[in-house]
Amino acid sequence: MGCPSCSRSLWLSALAVAAALASAAAGAQQLSPGFYDATCPALQATVRRGVARAVRREPRMGASILRLFFHDCFVNVIKPFRGVDRADGCDASVLLDDVPGNFAGEKNAGPNANSLRGYEVIDSIKAQVEASCKSTVSCADILALAARDAVNLVSHSWTVPLGRRDARNTSAGAANANLPPPDASLATLLSTFRGKGLDARDLTALSGAHTVGRARCAVFRSHIYNDTAINASFAAELRASGVCPFTGGDGNLAPLELQAPDAFDNGYFRDLVTRRVLLRSDQALYGGGGNDTTDALVLAYAANATAFAVVFAAAMVRMGSIAPADGSVGEVRLNCRRVN
Ligand code: HEM
Repeated sequence: MGCPSCSRSLWLSALAVAAALASAAAGAQQLSPGFYDATCPALQATVRRGVARAVRREPRMGASILRLFFHDCFVNVIKPFRGVDRADGCDASVLLDDVPGNFAGEKNAGPNANSLRGYEVIDSIKAQVEASCKSTVSCADILALAARDAVNLVSHSWTVPLGRRDARNTSAGAANANLPPPDASLATLLSTFRGKGLDARDLTALSGAHTVGRARCAVFRSHIYNDTAINASFAAELRASGVCPFTGGDGNLAPLELQAPDAFDNGYFRDLVTRRVLLRSDQALYGGGGNDTTDALVLAYAANATAFAVVFAAAMVRMGSIAPADGSVGEVRLNCRRVN
């Protein structure tokens, strides 16, 4: 006698195998931690040395490199370039220099101009990697490792899947369209992250990166002068300090997290709970009455630094997997600032 449910499950298994093969053929999710084990065994040590040197020289640089990776991963090109050779997501597109009259890339887009930093650190690590492993390691993978080491030098670590390819094009428009602004509402943040395959948990954990680094007056002025969802004495102190006058001083810097702005801890979440953060988009995660999920996560991470560390690591791996280009598109750039 036949077994209808058996043949149905066999059929479903066959479909699952076919889907897995198709996805492998398309190159989706082919990153692996051991990608360079045979071809560039010194890679991880070289990147780590380069990041350590840069952070010794300037402690803020760890934060800047972490942000550089986020701004790389979140930008997808809008149109394929000549229909081919296109990479997306974590593809080192953010590192491409503009070519006047020919190519306006991401560096001078609104969210990045006079703000994003760390390019020279990646250049210097890339030069050292090229010296021992010629044309082997993508700039995108160097940036993914550098972002991990930037955190690991002051906190916890994770294993970075590797094998990304470098983009051959991108655009300023793509950066403007994909990167959330500092006055974004929670709904905008959630939908932007959802568009990259990331959920409320990822958004909340990754926003914890604002436990390190600095922000310019230009991006937090309206929060400290106009908003009510902010601790009143905190806002008054900032206004009185002169760090962010009502007019002028756009480039003046203040720490994103007050107690220990170069330590990768859970202080950011405690600041959210007391409404003492610089960015309106950060405060949107907590206490706005809009989302019980992010409220609960903020409280959990504020209470437990280890819980935050674990989810942050997992979310960084997920963010680092946004549309990784596979072996059939993109290239391994020789110089991170220009296509080969
Ligand atoms: C959720 C949406 C986010 C928004 C709206 C946002 C916005 C901003 C803004 C406006 C600044 C200050 C830039 C300046 O004044 O020049 C900043 C700094 C920073 N962001 Fe975010 N960010 C977001 C998510 C993230 C994520 C996911 C990461 C990393 C995983 C990250 C890492 C950083 C770091 C480390 C800094 C300090 C950089 C430095 O000191 O050089 N941000 N962010």
